[in-house]
Formats: sequence, C-alpha cells, structure tokens
Amino acid sequence: MFYHVKDLQYNARVSAPDPRFARLLLEQFGGSNGELKAAMQYFVQAFSCRNPFPEKYDMLMDIATEELGHLEIVGATIQMLLGPVNGEMKDVVENMEINKMMNGRAAKEDFIHQAYTNPHFLVLAPGSPALTDSNGNPWSATYVTANAEPTVDLRSNLAAESRAKIMYEYLIPFTDDPYVKETLDFLMTREVAHYQQFEAALDSIKPNFPPGIFQTNPKYSNLYFDMSKEEEARGPWNEGSSTQLKEEWQYIDKPQEYVTSTDGLTNVTPKGTDRTEKMVKEKDEKLAKERKKMILSKTPAKDMQWSHYQPDGNMKKNSKTNKHSN
Ligand SMILES: [Fe+2]
Repeated sequence: MFYHVKDLQYNARVSAPDPRFARLLLEQFGGSNGELKAAMQYFVQAFSCRNPFPEKYDMLMDIATEELGHLEIVGATIQMLLGPVNGEMKDVVENMEINKMMNGRAAKEDFIHQAYTNPHFLVLAPGSPALTDSNGNPWSATYVTANAEPTVDLRSNLAAESRAKIMYEYLIPFTDDPYVKETLDFLMTREVAHYQQFEAALDSIKPNFPPGIFQTNPKYSNLYFDMSKEEEARGPWNEGSSTQLKEEWQYIDKPQEYVTSTDGLTNVTPKGTDRTEKMVKEKDEKLAKERKKMILSKTPAKDMQWSHYQPDGNMKKNSKTNKHSN
C-alpha cells in the first residue's frame, strides 16, 4: 500500500510566479524523461523481481517511491510558478488581470506570451500542472521500458537516470529564481545517486553481460565494420580488447568484400577471441539451467500470496531480511 505524507521530501520554494519556466518544467512532470516515467519504470520493473531478486525488488520500489515524491516536488513547483493563474481564471466576466498581464508582456517578450498561452495552463487545468511534456503532448506509457530481466532493466535505468540528470542540467539556466535552482539541484543530484545505485545493483549480478542468457556468437562479437571511406577513426571501440568479452577487435576495412567472401557472413571463422561456438553453447545451457532453477525455486506455483500480514502490524520477514540472496 502507499501512504501519503503531506510534507515534501525536499522543501520546494518559489520566489515569484514564472509561467514561462513552469511550462519548461512540465518536461520533468509529464515528459519522456520526467519523474513519472522514472517512477513508473522502476515500479513496473519491480514486479518480476519480487520473488527471485527480493533485494532488487526492495531497491526498485524504494527508488520508484522516491521518484513519485520527486513528481510531487515538480508538480508543487509548477503550481507555485503559476501563481495567480487559477484564481484569475475564475474571473470569467471581464477585465481579468491575466489578460492585462498577457497583453503587456506579449508585446515585450514573445516567449513569455507563449508560456501563458500554453492551453493546458489556461483552459484545461488553469494554473495547474497537467501530465504532459512542455509542448502539451500527453504522458505516454511508451516512455517506460521494462523487460523482466534485471541485466536489461538496470541498464535501461542507467540511461533513464542519465537523461533525467541532463534534463535538469538543461533546465537550470532558464530560471533566475535561487529557490527553484536549489530544488532543481536537489532533483538533479538524486538522479546521480540513483544512477550509482542501479550500477551497483547491476554489478551484484554475475554474470551480467551479455544481458540475458545467450552468450552470443564469437564469429561476430568482435567485428568492427568500417562502413565509410577515408578519415577512419580508431579507438578502443574498434582496436585493442573489447570492454566486456575481452576479445580483440577485428577491423573489417572492406566490409563488402568481407561479406561476399564469407558467403554473407555464414562462413566466418572466429579470430581474436578465446571463445568458441562450443564453449558458448555450453555456457548458454549452464546459465539457462541455473537461472531457471534459481527463479523457479523462488516462485511458488500455487497458493500464492503477495504479502504475509502479522497481527502485530509488522510485515513478516521477507524481502527486507533477504538482502544478500541472489
Ligand atoms: Fe531518479
């Protein structure tokens, strides 16, 4: 269950209304890299972890819940930045103060006018945040990625936290309000904290690369295709040893010839790697068995019950005490 505490996690403050910035900040409320996306992503990912990875479930739900708290902070900030808009919109008769403000400001600064004329801020939910991005596009579940595989989901979360961090970095220069800057600094910093938490969680799963079970084919895992002519850039992405599988990069400088001579890559002999197709197949089978056994052993097939209640009100020992299980 969720229990709402009316105090914010961080004391959001605003010096003065700024509808222009409220509109930009909507990006972090209902946008593709916003707080709702983060909350929903970790929330949805948590379900598949509940039994096999109780410690990951605990972390995902903790961070999802914190992200909901951040959504609340962003919403509260937008509400304050819109200041008198809601009240002014109630004066539907005439001579609305907001009209005077719009006319006066629009003449001076078109950008501010744009913010005021965000239809969501005026006619859908006057003076209040809506679940849209800064251009009014409705929030979408397509922003959320969850694949029921922690070696994939946790990597997805590293990308999500990186994007959320850079969004705050882009937003900060657009406000002069020191209070709003402080709030954004807090929110940005938490993304960096979450990044490292997800990174450590990924690192605690061994092996975790390649993501999933299949170890992938050594015929193709270390090939670099030079798909353009001249000014060939060389670097650790196409020379030396690969980052995870530690294979020597094979630089294919004539891709078309290589494809033709290998009968469309069907006749490739692995080079620069200790991995063989036989080894890979054995590892696939071993890992598949191990993971299946591990997950099924922790997943009851009948008489299922998500929670175990104790008469004294404390949750039965489960995920919280199981921190180090794998
Ligand atoms: Fe985050």
